[in-house]
Amino acid sequence: MITTTGLTKVYASRGREVTALDGVDLHVREGEVYGVIGQSGAGKSSLIRCINLLERPTTGTVSVDGVDLTALAGRGPRAGKELRAARTRIGMVFQHFNLLSSRTVQDNVELPLEILGVTGRDRTRKALELLDLVGLADKAKSYPAQLSGGQKQRVGIARALAGDPKVLLSDEATSALDPETTRSILQLLRDLNQQLGLTVLLITHEMDVVKTVCDSAALMQNGRIVEAGTVSEILATPGSELARTLFPVGGEPSGADRTVVDVTFHGDAAAQPVISQLARTYNIDISILGAAMDTVAGKQIGRMRIELPGRFEENVVPIGFLREQGLQVEVAGEEPVLVKEGAK
Ligand SMILES: Nc1ncnc2c1ncn2[C@@H]1O[C@H](COP(=O)(O)OP(=O)(O)OP(=O)(O)O)[C@@H](O)[C@H]1O
Ligand SMILES: [Mg+2]
Repeated sequence: MITTTGLTKVYASRGREVTALDGVDLHVREGEVYGVIGQSGAGKSSLIRCINLLERPTTGTVSVDGVDLTALAGRGPRAGKELRAARTRIGMVFQHFNLLSSRTVQDNVELPLEILGVTGRDRTRKALELLDLVGLADKAKSYPAQLSGGQKQRVGIARALAGDPKVLLSDEATSALDPETTRSILQLLRDLNQQLGLTVLLITHEMDVVKTVCDSAALMQNGRIVEAGTVSEILATPGSELARTLFPVGGEPSGADRTVVDVTFHGDAAAQPVISQLARTYNIDISILGAAMDTVAGKQIGRMRIELPGRFEENVVPIGFLREQGLQVEVAGEEPVLVKEGAK
């Protein structure tokens, strides 16, 4: 649904060149919720702005719903019109809502419809339909200043849906909101994704967001996508930094002659008493240094950091035992295998 190939963006600022995107190949499937995470300055906003061509990519292509937007943008005076038409199929939700304070809620939602040339009763009907969809049917005549942050964002989402988009882009839509409101907005995005078959690409700082609503995720660093995949693929990838970010388990080894092992439990394995089996089978004392449990896409996932007495060489057999139970096992000091973009 969204594909970028070799996308680069170089900003020239005060005589200096800043490479914000450095060869991004992104692939978002139709109907999925796709999360992009990464540190400040990694290029996340630049990616979103290049996807709807608010920002012209320096090189590379962007295609959304089968339309090559980069090709449209480049061609002659008519291109502007075609690009605008293609853009109505892409909804955009902003962190700071960007509502017009002098207009009522309904008029804010009607704004893009006005621009699309929808008039009279059709426009009103559509706006009220959308407000109903986001749970704000009773706020049509209110002004933005009379709304809570979460309600403002609902208006922002209704407005983004005015052109019946196939794709919704969201740049930190919940970062100005408290945790409970964040959850309700995310639930709304998830509902819209399911009810309307909307493809959602969202950028977030919050790992919980990815765990709760995303089907797939990517990690950006220095203008590149360094890891990507479905959330379950990511969690099943040894050495994945994204998995570690999503499921941090802490805990320091208690001494030098110890082997620290990170174990990831999926589905059925999460319910089995493998650690106590390990202790009994090999008659070893196991310390649990840290652990986290969560539900991802309806499945139980757990990560645990354990410590075995003795060095790695002395623990090859118990570690093999864990792997044979179908667990994903990472041993501190062993070379991690990193997932690469496209490795599916
Ligand atoms: N208009 C601009 N002119 C010059 N440099 C820019 C511009 N926009 C972004 N940059 C630079 O490009 C890099 C990526 O910025 P971007 O806003 O995409 O990061 P981000 O991942 O969205 O960060 P954050 O999490 O803080 O929002 C940064 O180094 C930033 O300073
Ligand atoms: Mg940003």
